[in-house]
Amino acid sequence: MIIALVNSKGGVGKSTLAGNLAGWLHEHGRKVILADCDTQCSSSEWVKEAAPEIQVVRLANADEVLDELPSLKREAEYVVCDGPGSQTETSRALLMWADLAVIPAKASMFEARALDKNTAFVRQAQSIRKGPPDAVAVLSMVGRDYRLTKDMHDAASTLKLSLTDTPITLRQAYADAPGQATFVWRMGYSARDAADEIDALFQELLPEATSDKVLSLRKGNRGR
Ligand SMILES: Nc1ncnc2c1ncn2[C@@H]1O[C@H](COP(=O)(O)OP(=O)(O)OP(=O)(O)O)[C@@H](O)[C@H]1O
Ligand SMILES: [Mg+2]
Repeated sequence: MIIALVNSKGGVGKSTLAGNLAGWLHEHGRKVILADCDTQCSSSEWVKEAAPEIQVVRLANADEVLDELPSLKREAEYVVCDGPGSQTETSRALLMWADLAVIPAKASMFEARALDKNTAFVRQAQSIRKGPPDAVAVLSMVGRDYRLTKDMHDAASTLKLSLTDTPITLRQAYADAPGQATFVWRMGYSARDAADEIDALFQELLPEATSDKVLSLRKGNRGR
């Protein structure tokens, strides 16, 4: 399965979610490849240090994305693609192959107004491919003023985008994890809320990713 974190708006949390998602899938025993499609290479640098066992690939432009994603898909259960903040061609290319587009979006009135423009390429891809990729928006860096999220709910429903029940809130732990070459769930007590929230989000997005584990656990219990 190819999961693309996209939003042509910069600084909305694509790399933060991509790195954590690759780490989370890996820790659930999944074969995952992180495909860093942003020339800033922030998620690949981070994941290489935080979890060197994860295969990391850099795809520098739209051609590399179009040419290499199909073979990467054959090599892993999940290919997590960190989309660029500006080069829309690369994002378009990603959505030609992606099974799921995850769109982090900040919860503010300005962002809600820009969501249409910044996600137009998602609807274009769905129209060309006659359906896929599935697309879901995630409220990112949600602050204390939750009232603002209503604009985002309205904007998402106008665009027929589903919005996850779990938002990602603004927390220092998310910003600190890459610099400490770690993930929020390894940061101990002070980051427990971030760890719980990101686990809830990923379970919501990919319930099947942990289901085998639950099954084998149940089988194990039965055997005892
Ligand atoms: N939930 C959060 N709480 C606090 N800080 C966050 C959160 N999510 C991301 N950040 C910080 O915000 C900044 C932008 O996040 P990130 O790099 O993930 O966005 P991006 O969409 O990948 O940006 P770009 O478009 O430039 O690639 C980073 O410094 C990151 O550490
Ligand atoms: Mg990024």
